[in-house]
Order: sequence, then structure tokens, then C-alpha cells
Amino acid sequence: MKKIAGNPYIKKKDNDILLDSVLLSEILKEFNTPIMIFLENRIRDNIVSFRKIFEKHFKKASFYYSFKANYLPELCSIISSEGIGAELISLPELHLALKIGFPGKKIIVGGPYLSNKLIEKSVKNDIQELIIYNLNDLIKVNSIAKYYEKIQSICLRINSEKYHSKLGIRLDQKNIIKLKDLLGKCKNIKLTTILSHFTTQMNNPAQYKSNINSLTASINNLAKENVYIENINIGGGFPEASVMPESQLEKIVCEIHSSLTNLDINYERIYVEPGRYIVGDAGLFLTKIINIEEDRWIFLDIGNHVCPKFAKCSLRFYNTSQINQPHKFKTSLAGIIPTDQDVLAKDYFFTEDLNEGDVVLVANVGAYTLTFSNRFPYELPPILLIKNINMKKIFDPAIDHDISLF
Ligand SMILES: Cc1ncc(COP(=O)(O)O)c(C=O)c1O
Repeated sequence: MKKIAGNPYIKKKDNDILLDSVLLSEILKEFNTPIMIFLENRIRDNIVSFRKIFEKHFKKASFYYSFKANYLPELCSIISSEGIGAELISLPELHLALKIGFPGKKIIVGGPYLSNKLIEKSVKNDIQELIIYNLNDLIKVNSIAKYYEKIQSICLRINSEKYHSKLGIRLDQKNIIKLKDLLGKCKNIKLTTILSHFTTQMNNPAQYKSNINSLTASINNLAKENVYIENINIGGGFPEASVMPESQLEKIVCEIHSSLTNLDINYERIYVEPGRYIVGDAGLFLTKIINIEEDRWIFLDIGNHVCPKFAKCSLRFYNTSQINQPHKFKTSLAGIIPTDQDVLAKDYFFTEDLNEGDVVLVANVGAYTLTFSNRFPYELPPILLIKNINMKKIFDPAIDHDISLF
């Protein structure tokens, strides 16, 4: 059976489509569009292949799923059951991760804003590392760790030097002196790791290399001042698994390894924080054409409120009602928000015939769509989780109302 969007869990079957082992036509008998669907087996496979490739090249590698990519509790539970850790930015995520059963020792927490409550809960639960984006936060963490009589391990997020990036610490001479001074005074923190996250959707090996160069320059600058770290964290940024085939991921991981070896960097462990790679291609929308306008513009019953541009997904569109027809006619797709800005894709290759009611599958929407979704006053779609032949509703807008974490 032919794969759709390069995804082994979305396959053409005669005139129908199999999502794992459930027929799309069966889903449409039970639900109206729009529907959001997640494929559990794809999430599991993505984790297994990501780990396999990194562990082939690095003896000591640790993996932390970046919750912000998609924090639906059911998905985070699946990810937890695969044994990897969690990378979190907020208190609601920390509540969720601990509730689901991620052990504190496999959780790393950090971001540009660390509230006292977030630091306190992190310290009390012995989370593995707090990630600091601003040197002044070290003082705050130290005093909370002191209060609870703990030594908190710290990771420094350095500025990746990506064009215009404002996130993270620039480890120039002035800041390194300040860091050294703080580390000398703050006895309840221990610097263990540095992190550089470059950007998302990194398809080009040169981007990974730039990231490694930033890390290396910082490690060397620190070493000149006798500040040493144990671990390096390269962040995330990997595209959807069906967009980056295993062979390409392998090539990139191999290059990361050889860059680090050539640069003669000493480190104990490499940490990686994938988000999109794990959940991106495990999510899809089923939506329908609600209107057809001139110049082959079609309107779908989703829009940027649930499928936002900010999510930077590699969107793929298939007309499932005419799945055997060639998709080679330029078509533009718009959403339902009443503004001309709500464009999902321009000049996308689609079927020649366009009919109101045709069901369109939108692939690769598992990462960041819900995170960046907004409060435009439309009802959210139901969310289904499919595994083998089983289908479970994990979000019902009529009952659950909102996907936010509290
Ligand atoms: C520090 C950090 N780590 C990991 C990630 C996850 O990135 P991705 O989903 O592109 O793998 C992000 C995303 O913004 C990030 O900022």
C-alpha cells in the first residue's frame, strides 16, 4: 500500500485511507470534520528510531521530549512510557510531567522566565537540571536551593549566535567573570551543562554545525577561566520524522559526533531535546472544503487558529475524497478566520476537481499547532488517538472546552 506524506501509518487502501489500522471512512461515519488525530504507534516509532541513531554514535546520550511541542497529557504519557525524559518551560508542564510519572531525575526545566514557584517545585522534586537563560537567575535559584538544603544542578542556555537571537547568555569575557563570581558565592548550585538550541525545522547540516561551533566556543571560553562543564545539550530542531528520513538523521548525527571529536571537546554526556521529530508527523487533521472561489482558492473548515503558521509545520494536503486522482494542479487553501490573512498554503499541488464537501487530510500537524493555537472563537476539534485498530477520543470540545494546562 502506498504511503501518504511519506508516513508508514497513513496509507492508501483502494479508494480509502488507512490511519494505522483504522479506515478513514469509518472515522467519518462517527465524526464530523474538523477532527484532529494522533497516531500512537508513530510517536513510539519516532522515539525508538531517534534514540537508536543517537545511541549508535554516542555512548552516553540522554533524551528529553520538549513538552511545548505538544503537551496533551495522553501523548506525554505515551512518551513517558518509552523511558525518555522531559524538557519543560513552565509550572503547568511540571505539574503534568510529575503527575504522569516522569521521574524528577529525568526532567529538565528552564526558560527566559523562571518564577519562584517554578524554581521551588523544581528544587523540591529534585529535578535533574534547571536551565538558566539569564545569569541573575542563578542568585534566585541558589537562595531557594539553600532554603530547601539542596544542591541544584544548573544548565546554562547560551546564545546560539543565530542571526538576531536574543535568547540565552552570551559567554563573553564580562559574563564569564560574572558567572565565575556567582558560582564562587552561590554554594547551593552546581554548573553541570551548557545548552545551545539553534532553531526549529533544521534540514540543513550546516545549521547543526553552527550550533556545535557555538557550544564549542563557549566551552573553550569557559575553560580559559577554569570553569568546566560535564555535559552538552544541543537542544532540538529536528524536522518531522517523515520529512527527515532516518538516513538523513543518521548523517547529521554522525556529523555532530565528528565535529565534537575534531574540536576535541571533553564532555560526559550529550543531551538532546527533540519536540517536533517525535510528535510532528503523528498528528493530522481531517477537514473539508466548505467553499470554492475563483482562481482555485478553496476554503477549509480549519484555519490558523488551530493550524497556525507560527507552528512552522511541513503541511501536506491530500484530497481523500479523490485520493486516486493526480495531485498536480496548483490550488490555494484558506482557513475560516474572517481575514484574508488566514492562508494555509498558496499554489499547492492538489486535485483538478474541487468539490464542496471533499475531505482533505492535512499531514504533519502534531507539533506546535495546539501550542500556538489562539482564542479565535471557534469550537476546537475533537481529538482522537489511534493505535492499531483502536480509536479513543482524548479531547471532546463539548466536555473538555479547552486544551490549556492549569
Ligand atoms: C531550548 C529548546 N529545546 C528544544 C526545543 C524543541 O525544538 P523542536 O521541536 O524543533 O525539536 C525548543 C523549541 O523551541 C527549544 O527552544
